[in-house]
Amino acid sequence: MAETQPVAEFAPAKINLTLHVTGQRPDGYHLLDSLVVFADVGDRLTLALSDTPALNVTGPRAEGVPGDARNLALRAAETAGTTVRIALDKHLPAAAGIGGGSSDAAAVLRGISRLTGLAPPDDTVRLGADVPVCLPARAARMQGVGEIVTPVADLPRLHAVLVNPGVEVATPACFARLATRTNPPMPDPLPRWSGPADLIDWLATMRNDLEPPACHIAPVIADLLETLRADPACRLARMSGSGATCFALTDTAAHARAMAARLSRPQWWVQPTRLS
Ligand code: C5P
Repeated sequence: MAETQPVAEFAPAKINLTLHVTGQRPDGYHLLDSLVVFADVGDRLTLALSDTPALNVTGPRAEGVPGDARNLALRAAETAGTTVRIALDKHLPAAAGIGGGSSDAAAVLRGISRLTGLAPPDDTVRLGADVPVCLPARAARMQGVGEIVTPVADLPRLHAVLVNPGVEVATPACFARLATRTNPPMPDPLPRWSGPADLIDWLATMRNDLEPPACHIAPVIADLLETLRADPACRLARMSGSGATCFALTDTAAHARAMAARLSRPQWWVQPTRLS
């Protein structure tokens, strides 16, 4: 088969504005209720249909990212029944609670869909709990173990700083340390927010239930959250996913940029961004 013209896909960082753990299935997976948004920072992929699968990883965060079948991007292509050649320009830290691998996998599925004209496979949750929500890559409520994705229309856009303190938190260890697995869900239906300030006030009444166990496993996360909350531009600081990346919400893009400059540390990944 001759290679097709490559298509480009953006794989944005996924941010859990809230993450409520509401139960556990008999197979051990947890039931979630999460408000998910996407950043304007992310990985960049190009992919083309090809005779043999290939993955070339480059970019500022390429180190340690596998270029073989351990990478979710190649496994996603396999589940779509296609062989593709993928160039992955990696900007997001791995194992960081911002869905880097899942967003890459979802971008591969979107790209294959464009190349073949076929819809992505069902059951993408089997690739990873965050893959279904990353497929449309738009603000959504995520429920079940990740397979129920309900778009949230007209979510006010937020300004934020993303900070990863350079530690990895193993997601299963984080879930295993939960004090309780049956926490209250978000209200149903979700409110309609009049603007960013209203949304931030409401978010302050919600939670990331994985934050306490993650802070126990990696106390640097608790220190980071304290640092973010002490910053004059910070309206709300919370951890995303199972960590260790945290986000601070600010009133304006200028505040996010200024806060990012104040937070710069050698081991930290710091990114001002817009969330929508
Ligand atoms: O699906 P993903 O690979 O992201 O999940 C990593 C681990 O996180 C799972 O093996 C499981 O231990 C835990 N998990 C969970 N419930 C979910 C999602 C993930 O217990 N809904």
